[in-house]
Amino acid sequence: MFAAAQSWLKQRKMAKAEQALDPELASKPPVFLAPPFTPELVAAIRLISTQLALDPNEESRLLWQKEQNAACWGEYEALAPALHLRETPKRVLEIGPGMGRSAVFFAKKFGWQESEFHLFDGNGTSTKYKYKRGPRFEDSFCGNLKLLSTLLDYNRLQHYKIIDAQQTPLAKVDGTYDLIYSFYAIGFHWSLEHFVDDISRLMNDKSLGAFIVHGDFQSFPALKNFNCRILPLKAAKKRTTLKLGMLLMSKTPAA
Ligand SMILES: C[S@@+](CC[C@H](N)C(=O)[O-])C[C@H]1O[C@@H](n2cnc3c(N)ncnc32)[C@H](O)[C@@H]1O
Repeated sequence: MFAAAQSWLKQRKMAKAEQALDPELASKPPVFLAPPFTPELVAAIRLISTQLALDPNEESRLLWQKEQNAACWGEYEALAPALHLRETPKRVLEIGPGMGRSAVFFAKKFGWQESEFHLFDGNGTSTKYKYKRGPRFEDSFCGNLKLLSTLLDYNRLQHYKIIDAQQTPLAKVDGTYDLIYSFYAIGFHWSLEHFVDDISRLMNDKSLGAFIVHGDFQSFPALKNFNCRILPLKAAKKRTTLKLGMLLMSKTPAA
């Protein structure tokens, strides 16, 4: 009896989670594919996506896949006009990729199969999000690099390298990148202000940075060295009180 009530409650929660998604974004085809759910994968996802009550079953897999793709479609629609005008990026850096949905989605939707994706994240055992504009602190990671790699391979992302943030801090990452982005990580949970010097070092005159920020984003002095604009961004969830924006930044106006 107790088990039946529990299962009914879970089903209701799942149905509500699905109804909460923006119907237009949620009705678009999946591009990022979720593999069969194992207890290990579910535990890793729950650490990152704390609001979803997922179980190792097909229903949960489909719900998560729908939610991940709805978020990706919103980001894609915000960025596509700017990114379609640019050359295909040769080197892309994602900061805080979680389970890798955005790299997979961009590679497939923009046709960036030859681009080299570097994914910067760290393993963690607990979630340490700040609601907004939190400070930078050591070990804010809640990723699972082994499963990130499993999901990238499952989605056949060709050229990628995972940078273990606990081995290589952002300040020591090599190179410059044509595109650097961070979704629901730097700029959202942890203020961009604390990372802007590291990010600036990784950008050349043609690079573009894209960061999901809160709708009431406030600039800070170091941003004056960049050309910035904030694009409207549709969230995966409808009727959310959370207003979002996509902050674009570059060192030169033409970029
Ligand atoms: C809310 S999740 C977002 C995951 C993914 N970008 C998405 O939108 O689904 C935040 C991610 O940022 C990572 N993270 C935490 N602190 C970080 C830091 N200092 N630098 C880069 N990534 C960080 C976490 O490990 C986690 O994978």
